[in-house]
Amino acid sequence: MTSSAVGVEFPHRPTPHPTPAGQRDALLADPGFGRVFSDHVATATWSAGRGWHDAGVRASEPLSLHPAAAVLHYAQEIFEGLKAYRQPDGSVALFRPALNAARFTHSARRLALPPLPEEAFVDAVAALVRADAAWVPEPPASLYLRPFTVATEAFLGVRPAEEARFLVTASPAGPLFAGRDAGLTLWISDELSRAAPGGTGDAKCGGNYAAGLAAQAVARAHDCDQVLFLDAREHRWLEESGTMNVLLVTADGELVTPPLGTILDGVTRRSVLELAPDHGLTPVERAVSVDELRSGCADGSITEVFATGTAAVISPIVAFRAASGEFAVGAGTPGPHTLALRTDLLDIQFGRVPDPRGWRVPVGLDSPSSDIT
Ligand SMILES: Cc1ncc(COP(=O)(O)O)c(C=O)c1O
Repeated sequence: MTSSAVGVEFPHRPTPHPTPAGQRDALLADPGFGRVFSDHVATATWSAGRGWHDAGVRASEPLSLHPAAAVLHYAQEIFEGLKAYRQPDGSVALFRPALNAARFTHSARRLALPPLPEEAFVDAVAALVRADAAWVPEPPASLYLRPFTVATEAFLGVRPAEEARFLVTASPAGPLFAGRDAGLTLWISDELSRAAPGGTGDAKCGGNYAAGLAAQAVARAHDCDQVLFLDAREHRWLEESGTMNVLLVTADGELVTPPLGTILDGVTRRSVLELAPDHGLTPVERAVSVDELRSGCADGSITEVFATGTAAVISPIVAFRAASGEFAVGAGTPGPHTLALRTDLLDIQFGRVPDPRGWRVPVGLDSPSSDIT
């Protein structure tokens, strides 16, 4: 992979102050999630007059924004999340980054931000991973990549900004739900909604997450790990969790998940639906009501539930709690299909099995293992 695409190039200007190797290795030994950041960012600037320009991989440092920058007032912002995985031979691969690039374009259009050419998106991510290859941890940890575009124009008024900045920051990360291998409990939010038809639910924009925080606080207050959002119109149909898609396994061998529309088109969701037949499961996208979820868990017609996401991978859901009461899924322990799909997906991502679908995209390190001493 090159670091140039359709006129947007990402040359690397190394930071003069890289983190000393000893300090970096200590951070990589136990990175947690979302707290440690690598030495560089990829970046590009956009203005209505010049289009995309001033792109490159540079030192990661605080941004300077005017107090009137549009993103600070009107939340004109989009982002993505994907990971770089250390492979057994020391090389590094991304997982289906073209899907993130396409979703980023979709989000940009919905938020009236300038779309970055999709090849440039993938090139920016790969160029950053090459620059910070030493920050890619050993499995089971990985390098979480966060591309985003913010409206930077200093202007108080509600219209699409005429200046924006694209950045990718990288964060070595361990499991999102560390210590929760026994499975998650979700709070069914039957009052607060995340998305409505015609809204931004299928875009990945910061505003969606801000709108979900109050529901997440309610979930925490009920000792739950995350929220399960329902549709905004009837508060009856399953949508998704705060940062994950939700899938059910039925006793008759279906893998059922709510249809796209007001939910995020998750890369992991898609991948798991494509892997389902290898696991003897028929993928089905259809509406599922809370009543069906509750009765199916009670009568055994729903045997497993799990959530998917780049950060969460595949996380078993073993119980639900709601204002109307609590119920368990199956025996209240992670199910066999959930665990097998999880192993399958992680094996593909970390290069432990062949990749006939071509989901792994190598970032092309000059010398694969030279950075991991
Ligand atoms: C709201 C929401 N749903 C679903 C997902 C899962 O998407 P993916 O599998 O692409 O990470 C995410 C995470 O990005 C998310 O934030």
